[in-house]
Amino acid sequence: MKALILAGGTGSRLRPITFSMAKQLVPVANKPVIEYGIESIAAAGIEDFGIIVGDTAAAVQAAVGDGSRWDIRISYIPQPAPLGLAHAVQTAHPFLGEDDFIMYLGDNLIKSSVSGLVAEFEAHRPAATILLTPVPNPESFGVAEMADGRVTRLEEKPAHPRSNLALVGVYLFDRRIHDSIAKLSPSARGEYEITDAIQGLIDAGLTVRSHIVEGWWKDTGTVEAMLEANRLILEDVEPLIEGDVDAESRIEGRVKIGAGARIERSLIRGPAIIGPGCEVVDSFVGPFTAIDARTHVRSSEIEYSIVLSDCEIDRAPARIAGSLIGRDVRVGRSLGVPRALRLVLGDSSSVNLGD
Ligand code: G1P
Repeated sequence: MKALILAGGTGSRLRPITFSMAKQLVPVANKPVIEYGIESIAAAGIEDFGIIVGDTAAAVQAAVGDGSRWDIRISYIPQPAPLGLAHAVQTAHPFLGEDDFIMYLGDNLIKSSVSGLVAEFEAHRPAATILLTPVPNPESFGVAEMADGRVTRLEEKPAHPRSNLALVGVYLFDRRIHDSIAKLSPSARGEYEITDAIQGLIDAGLTVRSHIVEGWWKDTGTVEAMLEANRLILEDVEPLIEGDVDAESRIEGRVKIGAGARIERSLIRGPAIIGPGCEVVDSFVGPFTAIDARTHVRSSEIEYSIVLSDCEIDRAPARIAGSLIGRDVRVGRSLGVPRALRLVLGDSSSVNLGD
């Protein structure tokens, strides 16, 4: 079996972060989201990976590399235009050949192993296996309708969903999916939908197996979902203090502090992760916070947030919470008069000043 990872999408709902960064590289607990999927699939014994890339090809390739650090081989496959998931599979056909494959959407977060799914697929040999999970907003996903424990109908982002079961971004296929894709026409949003291709398998009387999964998957397409994913991963963070913590600081709960980081006169309340080379001084870092490498936090309080690398947060006048802060950002207090908010915000930024 091969693996096909999709890392072509633009991430419009994560702007402005995704103006300068591929959405699959945005870190969750200080690790690019795409790496969770790669690790999980590699742990299932799959060694041959294709990654579909678009405009952000160079960044994805630079961050992920050739796969040697996971003992796998990675081929990068450019998709000339973002014409949908089924189009991505078609683009990858020369790489996939006639092999079975597991497809994983690179902005989805798989927390646990896919080994069981792979073994089950190989034992039963269906045309496809899909994963489903109940969600409160099924209209934002592909939605499955079930009868007698079998999938009878799939619809992509229906205005009036017939169930609350969303398609999770992990699929297993054999070569028959290519025939179904060849028959597709573009959907209303102008894309070749994998959802329609799987419906084609069902219509042809082929077996599509499904699993309901709970609690181990997140689509990280929005800021809220990113923060949720971060919370989910941090819940299991392995405590490890590699940096320096002075005698006036307190570390509570599950906390990971990277090499070369310095914590002075601060309270870190886990679960939290603080990357290598960070400085946290006279500050509070609260639960479900990930602070990436070399970021400095001084005289500030922050919780339930993701802060990327090389930022400076200095004397923030209120606790920062529920925030996603990009690379090399300064958040601080203005000195002198007039007492005013001085903002330099990129396109599509959002600032909530509290009350
Ligand atoms: C895609 C699929 C959708 C699936 C979702 C999971 O949507 O088309 O069926 O439920 O991924 O993340 P997209 O995120 O491309 O809009």
